Amino acid sequence: QQKYRPFAAIKLADRRWPDAELTAAPIWLSTDLRDGNQALIEPMDLARKLRMFEMLVKIGFKEIEVGFPSASQTEFDFLRQLIEEKRIPDDVTIQVLTQAREPLIRRTFEALQGVPRAIVHLYNATAPVMRNVVLGLDQDGVVDLAVTHAKLFKQLADEQPGTDWRFEYSPETFSDTELPFALRIVDAVTEVWAPTPERKCIVNLPTTIERCTPNVFADMIEWMHRHMARRDSIVLSVHPHNDRGTGTATGELALLAGADRLEGCLFGNGERTGNLDLVNVALNLYTQGIPPNLDFSDIDEVRRCVEHCNQLPVHPRHPYVGDLVYTSFSGSHQDAIKKAFAVAKPGDVWDIPYLPIDPKDLGRSYDAVIRVNSQSGKGGIAYLLEAEYGIELPRRLQIEFSQVVQGVMDDTGKEQSAADIWGIFEREYGIHE
Ligand code: KIV
Ligand code: ZN
Repeated sequence: QQKYRPFAAIKLADRRWPDAELTAAPIWLSTDLRDGNQALIEPMDLARKLRMFEMLVKIGFKEIEVGFPSASQTEFDFLRQLIEEKRIPDDVTIQVLTQAREPLIRRTFEALQGVPRAIVHLYNATAPVMRNVVLGLDQDGVVDLAVTHAKLFKQLADEQPGTDWRFEYSPETFSDTELPFALRIVDAVTEVWAPTPERKCIVNLPTTIERCTPNVFADMIEWMHRHMARRDSIVLSVHPHNDRGTGTATGELALLAGADRLEGCLFGNGERTGNLDLVNVALNLYTQGIPPNLDFSDIDEVRRCVEHCNQLPVHPRHPYVGDLVYTSFSGSHQDAIKKAFAVAKPGDVWDIPYLPIDPKDLGRSYDAVIRVNSQSGKGGIAYLLEAEYGIELPRRLQIEFSQVVQGVMDDTGKEQSAADIWGIFEREYGIHE
């Protein structure tokens, strides 16, 4: 029996992407150790990188971008450490990024020597401003750049036949690129790599800078999905950033539009406003009846690890994980929650107002759900006395006692814990142990 409502129940009524139906989780790619790391004030050292890697494995990521090994000695050494100390589980594939530049690609393959499996990720920018101003190349020149380096990938991989190689190509700045040109360059690269349905390559389409609304990006994904020459031999991946604050929506609509794979970071770390928040999307799927195949049953442990490795705090209102997200301050909310808990039976579909997910599923407790402050009403006070002290107040006494507690809060301006409320109750009604 399903605990949450199936996703189909909230499918778009006016379906813009006719093939789209979400019935299973996408392939996830964590880029915490690459895109996330490169955006940190103080990039992770080897110890923090290793701790993050082990947490990503524990959560259940099967594809993990571990770095940009040609970018720095730390990045190179971390990859060597993973390989030489045999820290990559058999069901996990590491991924590394390199720009389309020969010395960087050679150094990347050098760093990968002896790895059992790897995804090597090639990128170059494709948008007009990047072509004309940054690269100084016309469209033909940019296609030639990508194709030349895609060929080098093949050559260097053939020189290391002991590794199970997979290739990924990203037209960086895809969402600012003319679609026919994006299609041309993707088709040219995949022609070089000659993937098959049995041995697919990955085409990763980023909103390097998120500038368009999620539906527009999804339309672009649908168009690529329908037009790529080797679609059957391609894993279609997307890589949303969050400049407009809509990274999650962009990723979800891209899945509805035909994408197979999502790249992002835990709690949305990453360049500028971050990458797509993988936890957010995974738990959105979970609450709609789709198993995400990622384990967030102790979400606070994940948060502690991420905060330590990134040296950045997670906001108290962050979806699913923030300190305040299972806390209700308003009296009417508290009352509704209390009533719904009272009638909920084990095995029911989760339908508690103001709580989109059962906090217990994430290792959080109900303790903090009901808090009592000057904004709350009698429901929360009665709930805490009953839940913590087993005292069930008759309705008339609830009204009377809530006025007493309200008076204390008006005087002190402070939130009252269950213990405080019990203390007031003892004083008011002369109860002594
Ligand atoms: O945001 C981006 O475009 C990237 C690419 C290198 C995939 O991070
Ligand atoms: Zn990125």
